[in-house]
Parts: sequence; C-alpha cells; structure tokens
Amino acid sequence: MRKVLLAKSAGFCFGVRRAVKLAQEIAESGAPYVMLGPVIHNDHVIAQLAAQGVGCVSSLEEVPPGCGVIIRSHGEGKEVYDRLAAMGCPVADATCVKVAKIHEIVKDASDRGRQVIIIGAPEHPEVRAIAGWCIGAKIFRNEAELTVFLEEWKENPQKPVTLVSQTTSTDRIWTPCREKVKKECTNAEIFDTICNATCMRQSEAQSLAEQCEAMIVIGDRKSSNTTRLAELCRAHCPLVYHISRAEELDRRKVSGVASVGITAGASTPGWIIKEVKDKMSEEMNNAMEIEESFADMLE
Ligand code: F3S
Repeated sequence: MRKVLLAKSAGFCFGVRRAVKLAQEIAESGAPYVMLGPVIHNDHVIAQLAAQGVGCVSSLEEVPPGCGVIIRSHGEGKEVYDRLAAMGCPVADATCVKVAKIHEIVKDASDRGRQVIIIGAPEHPEVRAIAGWCIGAKIFRNEAELTVFLEEWKENPQKPVTLVSQTTSTDRIWTPCREKVKKECTNAEIFDTICNATCMRQSEAQSLAEQCEAMIVIGDRKSSNTTRLAELCRAHCPLVYHISRAEELDRRKVSGVASVGITAGASTPGWIIKEVKDKMSEEMNNAMEIEESFADMLE
C-alpha cells in the first residue's frame, strides 16, 4: 500500500497560535489596530487579517494617528516600545514568550557589561529584535563566522561572552558554536534558546524524511523554521518539495513514490495542511496511512 505520513507536530506552535488568536480577537472587536510587520510569517493568514480590517505596516511612521499596534510574534527591540509609548499608541504584544525570555537574557547580560553573541540570521526580525535589547550585540550565522570574531576577541577579551541562539536554529548550527565558545572563552554564559517546538518539529521531520521516498514541507518561504525543516529533510530524503499552498503541489512529482511524508512549519495554519492532505489523499486514491493525532490539529 502506498502511504502518506503526516507529522504529528506539523503546524502552529503555541507562540504562533497565541499571536494569531490575539490578532483575530482584535480584528473581531473592530478596534483600529495595525500589525507592525506580519504578526507571523504566513502570507495567507496576514491576508485574512487584512480582509478583517487589520492591515500591516512596515514602520512606525506608517501607523495612522490614533491607531493601536500589534507587535509581531518575533518581537521588537526596546526602541520600538519606547517610541510607541512616546506616541501614546495602544499596544497588543504578540511576542512569543520564548522570544521575550531571550530579550530578558540579553538585556541582563548587556546591563552587566557582557558581550552578547547571537547565533542566527542577522536580517531575521526575531534576531534584529533580540539585538535591540542589548548594546553592541554580535550576530553570526554559523561557527565559521563566529570563529573569525573569536580569533580577534581572544587578542583582547575585554568583555565576557554571553551566547544565545535564534529560536529556530538547528543543532547542526548551534552545537559547534556552543562548543567553540565553551572552549575558547573563559567565564562564558551559554543559553540554549532554540525553542522546544522547533526541536520537536525538526526531529519528527527528520524521522519522516528517513523513512519516506518524498517529503512535502508546507509553509511560507519567509518562515525561517519552515525553511530549516526543508533543509533538514533534504539531508535525509532525495525528493523534498517546499510549498506554501496545495495548488503549488504538482501531483505528478509524487505519483510514482511509495511513501510521502508531510510536515509543516510552526506558522502554517491547519486549513492549509488539510488542503495538502486532501490533495494527496486524492492522488493516493485514499490508500493513506494517517497519524491518528493529526485530526486534532486541523482547525
Ligand atoms: Fe515561540 Fe517557539 Fe513558536 S519561539 S513562536 S513557540 S517556534
């Protein structure tokens, strides 16, 4: 029998669920609010919120007078909160609690005169926001970039190092960085801030990728955690398709395979996962093996 295996952990994590719920409640209340940047990285969810009257702006200058602001799940730097307070703007804060915890860590480290190092993508909103809670943070994508910095730092180690990670990083990136800092820096503080929800999705995606002939990874291309899931799957499975909606799935590409795994990033809503599942179900003539718990997640 051909089979389709659906990851139990696919779809919204608790931080995204909370952020979307907050934005939807505001939309339903009719109160004038805008999102400062997309509240989560999923264009379809953002379009739905816009249709309900909660639009998205990319800077504080674009916030209409008298309008409230929803802070995205990725968080914002301290300066944004200060400016919002000065503007007298009502704020609905959808920052994920796991991200807010990293803000506390780096602020505290910076206040104690430490050098904060963030392992992550410098252009990602979560990373920019974390850097906005401390002074002079250094951001490195991987061990190679970190090594270049540490070579210089060792010559003149004025400040002890505090190391954190973007929540959606992977063990493959984080572990060598952590070990490097442990070895090279005396008095280093190391906080493994990769989110459990990310770890769970990654390990399940890997396990599915190892047992399936093809993998479908569903999620927005701007979503860091979805992109990481696709990368991880590619390391274990020859056919990996990253799609954002069912209509992007070319069924001919999976028609000849005996087993297909489906997973989705933490910002992918259940209704999109269901669309893909249904399309695959048609393709496989309903000869599917489905994880029991999956049905609970479809909204
Ligand atoms: Fe938060 Fe982790 Fe989701 S950091 S937004 S619960 S992936």
